[in-house]
Amino acid sequence: MIKSVRKAVFPVGGMGTRFLPVTKAMPKEMLPVVDKPLIQYAVEEAQLAGIEEFIFVTGRGKTAIEDHFDHSIELELAMTARGKENEASIGRPMFCPGKVAYTRQQEPLGLGHAVWCARELVGDEPFAILLADDLLMADIPCLKQMISSYEETGGNVVAVMDIPPNHTDRYGIINPGCEKNRLVEVRGLVEKPSPEDAPSTLSVVGRYILLPDIFKHLDRQNVGAGGEVQLTDSMEKMIGKDPFHGLRFIGKRFDCGDKIGFQEANIAFAMEREDLRDPLLKILARYSE
Ligand code: UTP
Repeated sequence: MIKSVRKAVFPVGGMGTRFLPVTKAMPKEMLPVVDKPLIQYAVEEAQLAGIEEFIFVTGRGKTAIEDHFDHSIELELAMTARGKENEASIGRPMFCPGKVAYTRQQEPLGLGHAVWCARELVGDEPFAILLADDLLMADIPCLKQMISSYEETGGNVVAVMDIPPNHTDRYGIINPGCEKNRLVEVRGLVEKPSPEDAPSTLSVVGRYILLPDIFKHLDRQNVGAGGEVQLTDSMEKMIGKDPFHGLRFIGKRFDCGDKIGFQEANIAFAMEREDLRDPLLKILARYSE
């Protein structure tokens, strides 16, 4: 019997150095795409996928994230008094009491270390991980697509997509096996390989469904690429024991950890908005002259 995926971990403890100086006193995950912070897109995706419990791994300087998801009574009351129900609803909390937990990664030692910090809160069940700086645009939320695949295959499932060959040193790259119905067997995983050493151009996107076995490997805290505890290295150790698949999800990915990816996300999401599309097109035309 396959256990259902009820919990999601949101690692938000990184320093966001590629976005300095804005990230000096503000979390990268609170950067807005149009008018919503990156982390809220990830939380909404998890909610639409049926996740019931939300675990944030935060760090110093990240309290804005907790405040953002909390009840803003002042906002709610002020907007209700003005008859602005939509704005008033934004003041209400996004989680049921007791269904959200915040734990701290005291030092940003890497994504693997951040996930390990959530081990007691996750316990002995499969769970999802969502990286807010990978912003996904999809008719069916990516995590929902992944849960459907997981319900068929069990085991570990990561979202994957093809990237340009010269970008392999930015991401975890899979060594692919057989492929059927968008599901690719994962035979190997390597973090940020150079284009010459990359086993393929199939990159892991920041969405994972992992079995709790991952914590046994993360317990070792081995340091990998970039001197960080890499999640990829522990995932690699799980290959061969349980099924492990990459899902070529249907949708677009914007790498918002990178400045250009972030700018593109703002344009793409604004284009989807009726009130912004036409004025934005006029502005863009001025800059492409
Ligand atoms: P990144 O490597 O993209 O984030 O990690 P970063 O380290 O904050 O950014 P740069 O490279 O310095 O600009 C992807 C996700 O993992 C989290 C980040 O917060 C981000 O959401 N992360 C990373 C942690 O929670 N802890 C870490 O030690 C590292």
